[in-house]
Amino acid sequence: MTPTSAFAARVRRAGWVLGLALGAAPALAQDAQALYVKALAATCANCHGTFGRGIDTGEVPALAGMPATYMVAQMQAFKKGERPATVMHQLAKGFSDEQIQQIAAYFAAQKK
Ligand code: HEC
Repeated sequence: MTPTSAFAARVRRAGWVLGLALGAAPALAQDAQALYVKALAATCANCHGTFGRGIDTGEVPALAGMPATYMVAQMQAFKKGERPATVMHQLAKGFSDEQIQQIAAYFAAQKK
């Protein structure tokens, strides 16, 4: 192999690796998005239980399997102060409408 063809081979290899990385990019972006929504939903776990399945005391309602439209409506009501609450009115204000939609879709998909 001449030095030139070795270089060409290296360029081809680099192109192949780059192609592989670019091919994986959409999947990675999807993973990142799923992780982001999971992280948002994880902030609810302290009170609503892991995956929103509730905690034994039963004082805080479970969120797992809650219909998304119901959750979005409640979160908006908390946010606007239309539904009285001890803590949720403050928490709900910390999320954008888009984040609330994403969180609601996440919990709707969780098993009770
Ligand atoms: C500090 C504890 C705490 C955290 C954290 C918390 N919640 Fe709550 N949540 C409550 C309590 C307590 C209630 C009952 C209403 C109230 O008093 O605020 C409630 C009620 C709700 C309700 C109404 C349920 C129903 O049956 O109508 C929804 C929906 C809800 N929370 C969603 C969430 C979401 C989504 C998160 C995370 C982004 C979250 N909560 C984080 C304590 C918490």
